[in-house]
Amino acid sequence: NTGKLWGGRFAGGPSPELEALSRSTHFDWRLTPYDLAGSHAHANVLHGAGLLSDDELAELHRGLAALGERYAAGTLLPDPTDEDVHGALERLLLEEVGPEVGGRLRAGRSRNDQVATLFKSFLRDHADTIGGLVLDLVDALAAQAAAHLAPGRTSIMPGRTHLQHAQPVLLAHHLLAHAWPLLRDVDRLHDWDARVAADSPYGAGALAGSSLGLDPEAVAAELGFTGSTPNSIDGTAARDFVAEFAFVTAMIGVDVSRLAEEVILWSTREFGFVTLHDSWSTGSSIMPQKKNPDIPELARGKAGRLIGNLAGLLATLKALPLAYNRDLQEDKEPVFDSVDTLEVLLPAFTGLVATLTFHADRMAELAPQGFSLATDVAEWLVREGTPFRVAHEVAGACVRRCEELGIELDQLTDEQFREISPALTPGVREVLTAEGSVASRNGRGGTAPDRVREQLDELRARAADV
Ligand code: ARG
Repeated sequence: NTGKLWGGRFAGGPSPELEALSRSTHFDWRLTPYDLAGSHAHANVLHGAGLLSDDELAELHRGLAALGERYAAGTLLPDPTDEDVHGALERLLLEEVGPEVGGRLRAGRSRNDQVATLFKSFLRDHADTIGGLVLDLVDALAAQAAAHLAPGRTSIMPGRTHLQHAQPVLLAHHLLAHAWPLLRDVDRLHDWDARVAADSPYGAGALAGSSLGLDPEAVAAELGFTGSTPNSIDGTAARDFVAEFAFVTAMIGVDVSRLAEEVILWSTREFGFVTLHDSWSTGSSIMPQKKNPDIPELARGKAGRLIGNLAGLLATLKALPLAYNRDLQEDKEPVFDSVDTLEVLLPAFTGLVATLTFHADRMAELAPQGFSLATDVAEWLVREGTPFRVAHEVAGACVRRCEELGIELDQLTDEQFREISPALTPGVREVLTAEGSVASRNGRGGTAPDRVREQLDELRARAADV
C-alpha cells in the first residue's frame, strides 16, 4: 500500500517529480473547514442508508470535529506526501479514529463531487464577504454625496465627455454614478449565489452518481444549498460557477478602477479637486513634498490582475471534455487570488473615499468654463420657440465668438448676443450660470439638486434591501 487514496492497483509509489507537480495542499488547504462540513453531512447520509452504525457515526463526527478544532487552532497541517486537501484530511481522520471506522467514510463519494461542492461553499461565503465590502464602498460614496448635497451647499463640478468639459453636474450626481454599478455588482453576486445554491454536486460521485442509496438532497440541505445537482456529470465537470464568480470580481475591479483613475486625476495639481487624507496616501523616499495616490493606483493595477484571473480560467475551461479532468485543479488559485485581492483592496479603497476632501470652490469655478453652458443656451432658445437645429447653430456661433474674444459665454454683452441672433435676448442670462444649468435638468435621473436628493434616497433604499 502506497498510503495514497488510490494505491491498490499500483505496484510502487509515485515519483517525487509527479508528487511535486500533483500536490495542491499549499493552496487548497484553506478548503479544510468546507471539506470537514461535507464529511459530517456525508457521514449522516451513510448512516441514513444503513452503512454506518450509530456508534460509528458518533465516532466519525467526533473525529471530524477534532480535526476542525485543530485546524482552527492552526495546528492541523498537511504532510508533503499528501496530494490534496481531501487526501490529507482522510489520512488525518484515520489517525484520529482508526482505519476501521475512518475507512468507511469514503464510500459513495469522490474527490470530484467533493471538490466541486466545497469550492461552491467557499465561494458562497466569500461572495457574501465581498458583497458586504462593496456595500461599504457604496455607503462611503453615498455619505460623500450627502455631504455635498446640503441645501445652499450643493457642490457643482465640470461634467465631462471625452474628458472634455461637457455640462456642469453636481458632484453628488457624479459620485452616485460610481455607486450604482457597484450596487449592481452586489446584485450580481446575489444572482450568482442563488444559482449556485440550487446545485450541490455532493452525491454525483466520480461522474455517474452513487449506487449506495445515499440522499444528495439531505447533504445539500445540511451544507446550506437549496437543492442538489440534477446531472452528476454536470455536477462534477461544470466550472461556469467559477468563471461567473471570476467575472463579477473582475467587474468589481474594473468599476473601482474607473473611480480610482478619476481620484488620481482629481488629486493632481492641474485639477486640484481633491486632497487625499494623510493616512490614506503615501510619500516619496526622495522627494520630500510628494503625496502619492497609491491606493487608487493599486486599485487600477489590481483590476488588470482580476481580469487576468478570469481570462486564465476561461482558457483552462475552453474545449475541456466531460467529465472531470485534472486540468480542473487549476480553477482554484486564480479565484483564490481574486478573493484575496478584493478583500484587501476594498477596505483600503473605501477608507480612501470616505476621507477625501473635495475642493468645492475650485470645482465650481471650473464648472461653467470651457463653454459648458452652450447646451443650456441652445435649450433656452428651444424653450423660447427656436427649432433645435437653428438653436444649436446659434449657440455654436456664441462659442466661436467667445473663442475669438478669449472670454466665456456669460461675458458676452447683450449687444454681442443680439448681433449673433435677435432671438438671444438678455433673458438667456438666466441659464448662464452653473447653478441655473443644473437646476434646469430636473427630469428623472437628471442632475438637478432635488432629483439627486431623491436619487440618493433611492440608492440607499436599494442598498439596504439588496
Ligand atoms: N484536487 C483535485 C481538484 O482540485 C480533486 C482531485 C480529483 N482527482 C482525481 N484524480 N479525480 O480538482
